[in-house]
Amino acid sequence: MQLFETVKAMRSHLFSLDKKNKLGFVPTMGALHEGHAALVKQAVEENDYVVVSIFVNPTQFDNKKDLEKYPKTLEADMALLDNISKNIFIFAPSVSEIYRKKVISKSYDFDGLDKVMEGAFRDDHFNGVGTIVEALLRAIEPDRAYFGEKDFQQLQIIRKMVAQQKLDVTIIGCPIVREPSGLAMSSRNERLSKSMRKEAAFIYKTLLAAKKQFGTKSATTVLHWVTDQFEQHPALKLEYVEIADIDTLTPIIKKQSKRKYRAFVAVYAEDVRLIDNIALN
Ligand code: PAF
Repeated sequence: MQLFETVKAMRSHLFSLDKKNKLGFVPTMGALHEGHAALVKQAVEENDYVVVSIFVNPTQFDNKKDLEKYPKTLEADMALLDNISKNIFIFAPSVSEIYRKKVISKSYDFDGLDKVMEGAFRDDHFNGVGTIVEALLRAIEPDRAYFGEKDFQQLQIIRKMVAQQKLDVTIIGCPIVREPSGLAMSSRNERLSKSMRKEAAFIYKTLLAAKKQFGTKSATTVLHWVTDQFEQHPALKLEYVEIADIDTLTPIIKKQSKRKYRAFVAVYAEDVRLIDNIALN
């Protein structure tokens, strides 16, 4: 396993490989957990080499405290990756390597995908995500790039950005990995107290029940039911619940038999913001 800190060094190493090799790419912000490991394992299975980037991207944080608190665990991350495969290259650039002197994001038009849910609550977040993912894809030029469905809105926005920018890469969405309790894996789970980590399993339990109801009840009924459940469970503060079309991410008005829907939630547990989602049909 090799570690590269500059675009130049990373690219010159990649250019030295036989062009017949397939290159997979897993972008991360570090603090790797089993959810990341699942993405990397899939990338290792489907490609000859895999680049994992570790970069805490400042332009996607609307909350400075969140950025400051973001865990930095490079040594542990390297050990986790080393256990998966020796054919992994780590790309861990500095902020100035990526942004030079201007730590600002580009402005994209994501056709409204960024205006709902996370986009409505996190100012400019998706412009920051688009900026870093585009920069990394241009630097690494992978054949395939892997993203988790926990950040489903992010995944759809990246697909849109890749199509708009005509980048030659296949974007692969990977299923959410959950703790045994059902809580979606996230680096943020480490910040929960032991008891809250247990309690937060309620989020997935509620999503599963919502999925069951969606088969027979209207979307409005399901949305009200979810809201009610959280009201009866004040330790978890629901920020939003939405049922949206998986392609356009527009909130559902009336179920259409040919469309696919997902339910999305953002929840505060203590001061930690957790998101989750589930396919409904
Ligand atoms: O999902 C993440 O960890 C980040 O948003 C990503 C894709 C690595 C971009 O910084």
